[in-house]
Amino acid sequence: MVMALDMTPTRTLLLAAFGAVCLFVSRDGAHAADVATGKARAAACAGCHGADGVSAKPLVPSLAGEPDDFIQWQLVFFRGGSRKSQVMGPIAKALTDEQIRNLGAYYASRRPPKPHPPVAADALAAAGAKVAAEQHCGSCHGADYSGAGPAARLAGQREDVLLKALRDFKSGVRLGSGVASMSDVAYDLSDQDMRALAHFMATRD
Ligand code: HEC
Ligand code: HEC
Repeated sequence: MVMALDMTPTRTLLLAAFGAVCLFVSRDGAHAADVATGKARAAACAGCHGADGVSAKPLVPSLAGEPDDFIQWQLVFFRGGSRKSQVMGPIAKALTDEQIRNLGAYYASRRPPKPHPPVAADALAAAGAKVAAEQHCGSCHGADYSGAGPAARLAGQREDVLLKALRDFKSGVRLGSGVASMSDVAYDLSDQDMRALAHFMATRD
């Protein structure tokens, strides 16, 4: 009914690809995501992901300002086990679809992290900018790398998180959605490219 009309082609494709239950519903529908409820639930996440979703911990991603869809999909992947993490697996398994919707809405509503550390463009960042342009990272992640739909925000994310993610996609530890596969993207990247990309993205506003 109304729900189908609200779905973008990407969402429809993703849902078809996973045969997933319909997590995404119209904002003004009966099950509209609730930011306040999501915020209350996120208190359990703040010890690792930081108050307001800005992480100060090594290898823990910032979540603030991530696209709603991205947060939801990653939690679904952790819950189903297609994204493997000893830490996040059990946490996600305890979440209902409704809680996942609310958490997605909450984190998407937070102000994105400021670049960390805030550095002026240096040689490594310039090298990263070049690879990012050649590889068209912005075609999926947004021209300013602020994320789009299922594709993460990269700007201002922790550098160690970005580098680990790229290495995990390259080695196959992380599979990605399979629809717009990061594994294919990472296949062509050298470790030096990945270092440069992570540095460039982390230091972008
Ligand atoms: C004990 C620490 C810890 C707690 C508590 C925790 N997380 Fe995580 N979370 C992590 C780590 C570590 C990762 C990175 C996993 C990896 O490297 O693949 C992660 C990854 C994620 C990601 C993927 C983000 C990305 O950029 O790839 C999401 C979404 C997420 N967590 C949401 C949550 C939510 C929601 C909660 C609370 C219900 C929560 N986490 C609680 C440690 C934690
Ligand atoms: C065809 C679309 C597409 C292109 C091109 C693309 N990405 Fe992605 N990227 C995605 C999607 C979708 C995800 C979410 C992956 C998943 O499903 O786990 C993602 C995830 C990521 C992540 C993990 C972020 C996190 O917090 O978990 C990083 C890092 C990343 N991409 C970097 C890049 C870089 C750097 C480039 C260019 C070299 C690039 N991507 C090009 C679609 C794309």
